[in-house]
Amino acid sequence: MLREREQTVNEEIIKRMVKAFYEKIIKDPLVGPFFTDRFGADTESAVWKEHLELLSNYWAMLMLGDNKYTGRPMRPHFDMPGISRKAFEQWLFLFHETIDEIYILKIGEYFKNQSNDVARRFMLNLGL
Ligand code: HEM
Repeated sequence: MLREREQTVNEEIIKRMVKAFYEKIIKDPLVGPFFTDRFGADTESAVWKEHLELLSNYWAMLMLGDNKYTGRPMRPHFDMPGISRKAFEQWLFLFHETIDEIYILKIGEYFKNQSNDVARRFMLNLGL
């Protein structure tokens, strides 16, 4: 049964969105290996759980303005041989697709704008 799309942003739905996104990501031939090489392909594993928690906190920080995420989001992306503009475009495509599956359009727009802004900044810093 098709689930009603979400009309609110809260931590619980962000966690579900993040999990759904990375489950898509690891199956993707272009972007998946960046993650599976580091964390493996089992999103229930301890390392994945830690990553999903970190990313849920990151999105909660961007969307709800809380401060559970205190990391440096750009940093690990400097140490990724083979990262490309094409990989970023695919990352964004899958992120937007996940957002459309979970949120109503009006909320989805905020997530998409945030992801576009961050990706643009990352690519600029990475010279892509
Ligand atoms: C092709 C595009 C991308 C790839 C392949 C990628 C890959 C990765 C990987 C493998 C990690 C884990 C690094 C580690 O802990 O060893 C990571 C961390 C992270 N990524 Fe990305 N990423 C991409 C784009 C993005 C974008 C567009 C965003 C934000 C909108 C983002 C946000 C983050 C954040 C917040 C972390 C955690 C940083 C920390 O350790 O605090 N990434 N990424």
